[in-house]
Amino acid sequence: MPDPRLTKNLSSGKSLLRRAALAAATLGLVALSCPSARAGSSHEEEKPERQEWSFAGVMGRFDKAQLRRGFKVYKEVCSTCHSMKMLAFRNLGQPGGPELSEKEVADLAASYKIKDGPNDSGEYFDRPGRPSDRFPPPFANEQAARAAMSGAYPPDMSVLVKARGYHRGFPAFLFDGLPGFSYQEHGADYIASLLKGYKEAPADFKVPDGQYYNVYMIGRRIGMPPPLSDGAVTYDDGTPQTVDQYARDVTAFMAWVSEPSLESRKKIGLGVISFLIVFAGLLYFTKRKIWSDVAH
Ligand code: HEC
Repeated sequence: MPDPRLTKNLSSGKSLLRRAALAAATLGLVALSCPSARAGSSHEEEKPERQEWSFAGVMGRFDKAQLRRGFKVYKEVCSTCHSMKMLAFRNLGQPGGPELSEKEVADLAASYKIKDGPNDSGEYFDRPGRPSDRFPPPFANEQAARAAMSGAYPPDMSVLVKARGYHRGFPAFLFDGLPGFSYQEHGADYIASLLKGYKEAPADFKVPDGQYYNVYMIGRRIGMPPPLSDGAVTYDDGTPQTVDQYARDVTAFMAWVSEPSLESRKKIGLGVISFLIVFAGLLYFTKRKIWSDVAH
C-alpha cells in the first residue's frame, strides 16, 4: 500500500504538468491566430497609415475647402462607378458641409438627369434634377454594376467610412474609446490608404484577371482599378494635384457624407460635458451648505 500522501503529491505533480502543457498549447494557438504573428505572410494586408484629420478629436471640424475638393474628386472620378444614395444635392449647401451656395446647388442639380414618373400616360421620363433630389446612381442595379466590373460590386459610398476599419492593436485599442484619447477615424485611414495602396505584385503572387494588387485590401486583391492618378482632377485653390492629396480630400468628403452632423454633435457634446462639470461643482457646494449644521 503506497503512502496516500505520496500518491496525492504525485497526482498533483502530474496535473501541474498537464496544466502547464495546456497553457503552453493555448499560448501557441493564441500566437498563431494573432495578426502580428502572421504579418510575415505575403497575403496579409498592411496596416493603414494613420492620417491627421481635421475632423478628429473632441474639437474636430471639417475643413470646408477640403470637402469641396473631395466632392470634386467624387463627382469627376468615383461617381462613375460608386453611388451615394443618401446624399441629396441640397445637403451640399447645409452648414457643416462643403456649404455650396444656393445657386451652385441648383446649377449642380440641374446638370443631372433624374428618372421620374410615371406621368399621366403612365410613362417614366427624365427631367433635370432639383436640389431635393438624391445623387443618381451610375448603374441601374447591382447586376448591371457587376456585369460591367468583372463581377465586383462598387459599394454605395454613403456610409462606407463607417463600414470600414482596422484593428490598431495593443495597446492603442485600450485608449481608443476614452474621452480625450478617443480615435474614431479608422475607416477614413483605411480608405485614404487603400486609394494609395496599389503596388506592383510580387512575383509569387497571382493576381486573377479583372483584379488588382492592393496591399491594404483583405487578401491584397481588389476588383477596383486604381481610380486616381496625379493631375487627374483640377483644383483651383492651388492645392497640390497629387494622388496623396486626392485620396485625403475624397476620404474627408466621404466622412462628411457618412456623418453630416458631426460638427453639431461634437459641439453639443462639449457643451453638455462643460455643463455637467459646472453642475457637479454647484451640487457639491449645495451639499456642503445643506449638511453644514448636522453633526457628523
Ligand atoms: C472603374 C470603377 C471604379 C471607380 C472609378 C472607383 N471605384 Fe471604388 N470600387 C470599384 C469596385 C468594382 C469595387 C469593389 C472591389 C472589390 O470588392 O474587390 C470598389 C470598392 C471600393 C472601396 C471598398 C473597398 C473595400 O474595402 O471593400 C472603396 C473604399 C472605394 N472603392 C473607393 C473609391 C473611391 C474613393 C473612388 C474615387 C476616387 C473610387 N472608389 C473609384 C470600382 C470603382
